[in-house]
Amino acid sequence: MNAVASTLDISALRDQFPILATEINGHPLTYLDSAATTQKPDAVIDAISDYYRHDNANVHRAAHTLADRATSAFEGARKKVAAFVGSENEKQLVWTRGTTEAINLVAYAWGGRVLQEGDQILVSTLEHHSNIVPWQLVAARCGAEVVPIRITDAGEIDLEELRRLLKGPARMVAVGHVSNALGTVNPVREIAKLAHEAGALVLFDGAQATAHQVVDVRELGCDFYAFSGHKMYGPTGIGALWGREELLAEMPPWQGGGEMIDEVSFDGSTFQQIPYRFEAGTPDIAGAVGLGAAVDFLNGLDRDAIAAHENDILQYAIERGDDFDGLTRYGCASQVSGAFSFVLNGLPSADVGMLLDQQGIALRTGHHCTQPLMSRFEISGTVRASFALYNTREEVDRLFTGLAKVRTMLS
Ligand code: ALA
Repeated sequence: MNAVASTLDISALRDQFPILATEINGHPLTYLDSAATTQKPDAVIDAISDYYRHDNANVHRAAHTLADRATSAFEGARKKVAAFVGSENEKQLVWTRGTTEAINLVAYAWGGRVLQEGDQILVSTLEHHSNIVPWQLVAARCGAEVVPIRITDAGEIDLEELRRLLKGPARMVAVGHVSNALGTVNPVREIAKLAHEAGALVLFDGAQATAHQVVDVRELGCDFYAFSGHKMYGPTGIGALWGREELLAEMPPWQGGGEMIDEVSFDGSTFQQIPYRFEAGTPDIAGAVGLGAAVDFLNGLDRDAIAAHENDILQYAIERGDDFDGLTRYGCASQVSGAFSFVLNGLPSADVGMLLDQQGIALRTGHHCTQPLMSRFEISGTVRASFALYNTREEVDRLFTGLAKVRTMLS
């Protein structure tokens, strides 16, 4: 634990994020959009810049010193990220562009091989489009079916409905660990247990979880876990798929090119072992190095203290929201993390977002790439404030001062 984390000096932590000192529209930036992407600490920005300044070369290919350095940095980052999610070894950690590509990889490489006419993939109504559409695409090719698991009015997966659906021909249950739109923390261990008892596999979309809680894929009991670097203080364009070794080993390549082959001839080609079989082309080396630095950054903090701080900020926002006339909160699950979603006086969320931006408050509005969820609540979108370790109660107060102005302006 570093000195900052042991005392949880949020102000000192904020100083490590240079963008937080920015002014927007004449106001100090109030960044409440970390579910879309977190801001980056100096340690990550410097690691990427240092890599390009001192070590840049292509990996796994050339016989020169820089290439060795780049390969060590790239594979060293893989080890760190694999350990960060509790993987037994780094072979089980496939680099991807992010969560979306990781889910597509499983849909194509696993689903394309295994799914047959009549099989079902169960996804919840809470899911981000990236955990629905890849399954729809592969299902259409295989004659399989994507079946939604109902959610309750509180925004929780209806486990009775899941139990019922698992009596059918389900081969995969694919759900988010934490909902990006509502912040619901799903009972993932129980979901994994139910799915496995029914003979189905489980994929968790961890995009909204890894920054906020310690994730151990073995303890969660999942078969695949997908996550993104940029939502955990790392760069955009890099993320990973963790998979159970025996499942990955059986999966065919899903993209062809350099890096992923063993031998190529016009009589046919053979392919590398995992994880390289799934990594065609020059990878995002600097991105991997940056994500490794983000993992070092997070590992240097007291994660329990950070989680408690983030929970305090979220609960404070919820309390203030409960007392705010005209605010309707969406998602009242028993366990929530990271996101506070609401509609103000039935006003269009885009208008609310624009007027908050004029006050320096950055948050996301709209359907949050969860249109089936919005339909479930019969709304077109919400205003979503989302939090990370650098947010403060004062910023929540600024949000509500801003909302009071918006309410006056728009009513
Ligand atoms: N999935 C990201 C969000 O929820 C982009 O905002």
